[in-house]
Amino acid sequence: METIREAIELIQRARHVVALTGAGISAESGIPTFRGDGGLWRMFRAEDLATPEAFARDPQLVWEWYDWRRLLIAKAQPNPGHAALAEFSRTHPAFRLVTQNVDGLHERAGSENVIKLHGDIWLLRCTRCGDEWRDLMAPLEILPPRCVLCCAIARPGVVWFGEGLPEAQWTAAQQAVNKADLVLVIGTSAAVYPAASLIPMARSRRATVIEVNVAETAASTYADIVLRGPSGEILPQLLGR
Ligand code: OAD
Repeated sequence: METIREAIELIQRARHVVALTGAGISAESGIPTFRGDGGLWRMFRAEDLATPEAFARDPQLVWEWYDWRRLLIAKAQPNPGHAALAEFSRTHPAFRLVTQNVDGLHERAGSENVIKLHGDIWLLRCTRCGDEWRDLMAPLEILPPRCVLCCAIARPGVVWFGEGLPEAQWTAAQQAVNKADLVLVIGTSAAVYPAASLIPMARSRRATVIEVNVAETAASTYADIVLRGPSGEILPQLLGR
């Protein structure tokens, strides 16, 4: 209890707060994480489903997997963790939210201007002409989906292993962290780079790092304060007025 009180005071005193979220923040919405118990990478091989090579080999299989995940996400609702961050951003205009998640639950909870490092599962991109469009959380009628302009196969608008991050989003994330005096690291294993490098970057800029996670992670060693527990329970206490 002492620790959370200390964390609340630090947040109240901070001028530029940044939150970096990962799959763990959506776990309480029923969306599986990638690593750890019940994680997607325990059941599936990332090389078969989340790389450009896998898509080139078998776009149908990759799309079936994304379609399955899209249906899970469409049925899920944002949880009190997403809601607490959205409410905090309304009352703290300097706050920046950076996420590795592609599920769109931060936006559905009311967060705006989310910096999305790994893309968006509701975005489709043509593999030939590059046209992008957004789906309305509905099941896809034909797999793999095709571009309406040039009929080529479309791909999910997400970042796969071996691909670079969207440049503008990555720059925005680094700028936010460089300016931050406090960084919340929420529900991420901090195992995937370059996103995870934002945490040592925050430390080297002397920002206070607060981790919210049910388990110890690679980020824990950088954290000034570690809050162990589900983000859906901790964030409303931490950020509530
Ligand atoms: P991971 O699955 O690697 O980590 C999820 C983290 O959430 C773990 O540290 C869990 O302990 C924690 N966690 C689980 N339930 C929680 C809860 N209720 N409250 C708080 N924490 C909880 O997910 P990410 O770190 O997001 O990228 O993974 C990073 C990237 O790897 C993903 O964006 C994705 C994946 O492969 C790509 O696909 C490129």
